[in-house]
Amino acid sequence: MRPPRSPVHGNLTAGRGDWGDVAPASPPHRRSGAALRNRPPPVTTVLNREFNSVTAENAMKWDALEPSRNSYNWAAADRLVNHAAAHNQGVRGHTLVWHYQNPSWPANGNFSASELNTILRKHIDTALGRYKGKIYAWDVVNEAFNEDGSMRNSLWQGKLGSGYVANALRWGHAADPSPKLYINDYNIEADNAKSDGLYNLARQLLAQGVPLHGIGFQAHFVVGRLPSSMKANLKRFSDLGLEVSITELDVRIPMPASSAELAQQSTDYKTATENCLGVPRCAGVTVWGITDKYSWVPGTFSGYGAALPYNGSYGAKPAYQGLSDGLNPQA
Ligand code: XIL
Repeated sequence: MRPPRSPVHGNLTAGRGDWGDVAPASPPHRRSGAALRNRPPPVTTVLNREFNSVTAENAMKWDALEPSRNSYNWAAADRLVNHAAAHNQGVRGHTLVWHYQNPSWPANGNFSASELNTILRKHIDTALGRYKGKIYAWDVVNEAFNEDGSMRNSLWQGKLGSGYVANALRWGHAADPSPKLYINDYNIEADNAKSDGLYNLARQLLAQGVPLHGIGFQAHFVVGRLPSSMKANLKRFSDLGLEVSITELDVRIPMPASSAELAQQSTDYKTATENCLGVPRCAGVTVWGITDKYSWVPGTFSGYGAALPYNGSYGAKPAYQGLSDGLNPQA
């Protein structure tokens, strides 16, 4: 049994780092995670108290790890992995193959397809190799789809064709067989053309024996606008035998946020979390940041903000309670 917990502290992780006592029928090690770009002391305090998983918001992206060819920058990623190890937190690796936040040299080098394959494989081998056994899930391929369900025309798709997805997963599994290997994307929470495209690819990959283990649903939502088909959509992926995870949850609000919007946001956090936990193979929920002080939202979605469970002074917002209620259905 879990010890009793105070109503506003430490509610996001049940017991000893998994939710086995909350949802006995579910797989062990369901995670409640947070993505972090930095760890000033107040962030670390909340992280260690509330979460059992961390994602590097930027530090494991290719431009951060290898800004120029063969010149690596591991310091920030290492610090995060070491922090996690010291505090019994799991690490989600994010991300290996993407159209964005790449260094310029792979695109500018005028490489042949075969050279680019070698470059991509080396990147995957190197990142997975460095953290071998220390990362429980990797977002191997990120944002590979267009809204209409076709493959996005990235450097990889353009030069290597859609086979790059299967290759990346195979190379990843060969480099470290322990992490669950994910395809991660946004606007796939609903049953829509984009999630249909991904569903068809996932089915094909599994039929071909490609080591795809999970689908990451980023879940960057607008307040009051969760898709009603979300749970059924996650379930169809879970029914393929795949893990499903919410990997980047936030719920943005047009600024300034009213108290009604903050209340709706709390409901949205709860519903999004329930939509994942209500599905058999939900492996966890990660929020894309802890505090509104450090959120990508205001810089990316003009006029929006207040997207995270803690306000800029590290006070728990109604969203914290919503997330907590979603994570602890029997509390
Ligand atoms: C964002 C980070 O939060 C920002 O700090 C950065 O400037 C851009 O990337 N989908 C993803 C994440 O997979 O990596 C993105 O993170 C948000 C959208």
